[in-house]
Amino acid sequence: MKVTVVQFQPKLLAIDENITRLAAMLDKIDSDLVVLPELATSGYLFSSMKELKKVAESIPDGSAFKRFAKLAKERDFSIVYGFPEKCGDKVFNSSVLINPDGSYNTYRKIHLFDRETLYFSPGDKGFVVQNAKNNVKIGMMICFDWQFPEAARTLALAGAQIICHPSNLVLPWCQESMKLRSLENRVFSITANRTGKEAIADAELNFTGCSQILSPLGDILVRLSTDEENTATIEIDETKALDKRISERNDAFADRRREFYRL
Ligand code: ACM
Repeated sequence: MKVTVVQFQPKLLAIDENITRLAAMLDKIDSDLVVLPELATSGYLFSSMKELKKVAESIPDGSAFKRFAKLAKERDFSIVYGFPEKCGDKVFNSSVLINPDGSYNTYRKIHLFDRETLYFSPGDKGFVVQNAKNNVKIGMMICFDWQFPEAARTLALAGAQIICHPSNLVLPWCQESMKLRSLENRVFSITANRTGKEAIADAELNFTGCSQILSPLGDILVRLSTDEENTATIEIDETKALDKRISERNDAFADRRREFYRL
């Protein structure tokens, strides 16, 4: 199958402009699975709940969902993108998988990072494996979830072949750490990061780019630069993630000694 990572620099709060620019990038892509960054429609560094609520959208009636669902159908790919999800009075830092047949599922970020805790509600739906196009099993986690090995492990044990990882990374360790998340779980991972800088009155962030696609052995199959807005599409054999054997006598999952772990 073909998989695509999209690296993008959204303009803070400019939701219509961001969706239009993303749609133009997506309209050129020939792929089976496309992964976009965290909060790709809205930008990241909010100053108030009021501001965040203005750009939050519900599923499936939000403008981003409608536009990307149409593209998924027309271009015959599954798409994963990050957005602020309005749900009653709460806003979650969410991602959604939309398939070409219109089926969809959301993930709400479990481990909120730093200022996100001021405005977003922590995810309440757990880590769930979903069917993407052609019934390939994917799991979603968002950015700072990388810090908690339990996230990727939970998805891999539930059968994920590809971990889709929309991100807005600011710490320097994730891209290298994801090599281990892929290797220890023997899964592909797609970290779609953003680029650029955001500044508000009392905070400034530099996003690290270097979006990447990793093999189940933790090899870098593709990695973008720190600052380009770009996409990369590669062919992978997703069935490789079903093989957990390490040696003739070792298996990454079957050899676990759960009776000795306290988690
Ligand atoms: C992050 O979780 N966006 C750093």
